[in-house]
Amino acid sequence: EDSRIALPIGTTLDRYIKKKQDEFQFATGELSQLLRDIALAGKVVNREINKAGLINIVGAIGTQNVQGEDQQKLDVLANIRFTRALSKGGEACAVISEEDDEIVDLNNEGRYVIAIDPLDGSSNIDVNVSIGTIFSIFRRVTPVGSPIQEIDVLQKGSEQVAAGYLLYGSSTMLVYTTGHGVNGFTYEPSLGEYFLSHPNMSIPEQGKIYSINEGSYNSFPEPVKKYVEHCKESGHSARYIGSLVADFHRNLLKGGIYIYPQTAKDANGKLRLMYECNALAFIIEQAGGLASTGTQRILDIEPNELHQRVPFFVGSKDMVEKAESFFN
Ligand code: AHG
Ligand code: MN
Ligand code: MN
Ligand code: MN
Repeated sequence: EDSRIALPIGTTLDRYIKKKQDEFQFATGELSQLLRDIALAGKVVNREINKAGLINIVGAIGTQNVQGEDQQKLDVLANIRFTRALSKGGEACAVISEEDDEIVDLNNEGRYVIAIDPLDGSSNIDVNVSIGTIFSIFRRVTPVGSPIQEIDVLQKGSEQVAAGYLLYGSSTMLVYTTGHGVNGFTYEPSLGEYFLSHPNMSIPEQGKIYSINEGSYNSFPEPVKKYVEHCKESGHSARYIGSLVADFHRNLLKGGIYIYPQTAKDANGKLRLMYECNALAFIIEQAGGLASTGTQRILDIEPNELHQRVPFFVGSKDMVEKAESFFN
């Protein structure tokens, strides 16, 4: 009798996408192909991450991205993998990425635009702490076949047709939504398949965990200081991994709030609207939570530039509403 616990293996990602095909508001297999392209690139990046210390892909490469951040080898490597997979898949007409200054044109025949943070939590790569990838999918606005324009890319978060993240953690997961709830898939490397492990994810309405980098406390706006004091008075737990995807995922499962507010260093906060906040805001709302700048719903923000930053409050409904109450 095999002593190991026989885990109930869920359906595979491919079978799930096919089954849910009819749920996608539009055309046949395009969105499915996009999700497959992203899942495939996730497998490749996952393999490289698992060997990071051995194949000399840790550390910086001596260049800076448009954010003024020192690019890590894995930032650039992941960016290449995702952009290449999307280009080969043929469904994406353009990509905007944290690691590319401008819009990356792929294929004028493509109907979808992808916004991606190819490697989130770069400061944690070298210290073997969970990191992730975040992506948003929009339909293009201009006619298929015509040149890509900024209006195709700078769309409100509420226009997303899908969004998700990969979390390269103790296990690797793909979590995504197409506007019909949130589902989590766990990757089984020995089979090269993602299996449905977290169907219909929903965030607990109350939470007792707050995630914020209190090293910047002195430069927080007053309402944020008051909310942090409230968390301490309420006996909440402080958890801060320093990888947004990992902090977000823990709060999604257990309840909690993640805040990256305005600081002295980042007047609008550090996180980027187009490829970090929009995707996680779509997911959290689909899971019954909230995402705002403290005063405005993230998904309502009209973007005006590719890499714009916004203050970010995301998580359990009660906690975000409480934090927002200090702004009134
Ligand atoms: P990225 O690695 O994609 O640039 O994102 C890093 C972000 C986010 O993952 C994390 O929560 C946050 O930066 C941490 O910032 P601080 O170190 O300033 O707290
Ligand atoms: Mn990031
Ligand atoms: Mn990044
Ligand atoms: Mn970065």
